[in-house]
Amino acid sequence: MEDVKDRIRRLKKERNALILAHYYEDGPIQDIADHVGDSLALAQWGEQATNPVILMAGVVFMGESVKILSPDKAVLLPDLDAGCSLVQHSPYEKYLAWRRQYPDAICVTYVNSSAEVKSITDVCVTSSNSEKIIGAIPKNRRILFGPDRNLGRYLSKKLDREMILWPGACEVHILFSARRLFELKSQHPKALVLAHPECDETVLQYADVIGSTKRLLDEVANNREVNEFIVATEHGIFHQMQKARPDALLLQAPAQGACACNECPYMKLNTLEKVAQALQDMQPQVELAPALIEKARASLTRMLAITRGEQVTWPQAFAE
Ligand code: 13P
Ligand code: SF4
Repeated sequence: MEDVKDRIRRLKKERNALILAHYYEDGPIQDIADHVGDSLALAQWGEQATNPVILMAGVVFMGESVKILSPDKAVLLPDLDAGCSLVQHSPYEKYLAWRRQYPDAICVTYVNSSAEVKSITDVCVTSSNSEKIIGAIPKNRRILFGPDRNLGRYLSKKLDREMILWPGACEVHILFSARRLFELKSQHPKALVLAHPECDETVLQYADVIGSTKRLLDEVANNREVNEFIVATEHGIFHQMQKARPDALLLQAPAQGACACNECPYMKLNTLEKVAQALQDMQPQVELAPALIEKARASLTRMLAITRGEQVTWPQAFAE
């Protein structure tokens, strides 16, 4: 009898679909995907693919990024409830009111945002290209940064650039405990502490390496002088880290209290069964109004151009 993985492989071929998965998905979903990556790589693969169908095993904003960049493709998302707390923390009307207060500023928005918010954004960033993008903004321009205050604060300090920050946060990353991380590090003094910049600054102060999921994975894979790593990001990344370094001891940075809150509840809504069903039904799909796609695209294409090392132009003022 055909099991769920065989069913996915068959349907994928029938639909000529490309399956993309984020590092935070469960291991079996990562293993069935054509590509596993961080949010930047997923957007790039989605855009460059020649397949008419993209199945995004990730969260809604990741599917929306592909749809905005490639509106002619059908973008399947196994569960449309796979949201993100940063999207919830940045409702369009409030973000617009904030943006209107600083019409001469450059509005920089983390890709973890809605398509509507992207439509009033000058340039998006991901955690892997944010330093390069901020570095490309003329020094005489004010910067608005949202919706992740921790990533914004980290960038502002590291790049010595003043930024007006939106007060959103990731509900998973803010729960890592600095006190318990300190205790764990004391028990494993040789361990390297790796942290995603969405963590609170009290946690980041103990980090040896701060970066995107891909950056943290690369550290584990390539730093052969270290055999112990404490990882302050979502637990799904351990799947690729352990594959890359079966010899290494990987420790989850502790969360506050005894909760298992280092799992993203939105990423974990996806299952192999839902992936198979989405390919079967060609539903659910990411649907966005053409006018919204048009308005939101500039923020992503500007980001991708700077990432490729190209020069871009900046609007002088916010035009609604
Ligand atoms: P990456 O950009 O590292 O993929 O992170 C995305 C994300 O949602 C982190 O919580
Ligand atoms: Fe959003 Fe946080 Fe989940 Fe990433 S881990 S998708 S930022 S809620």
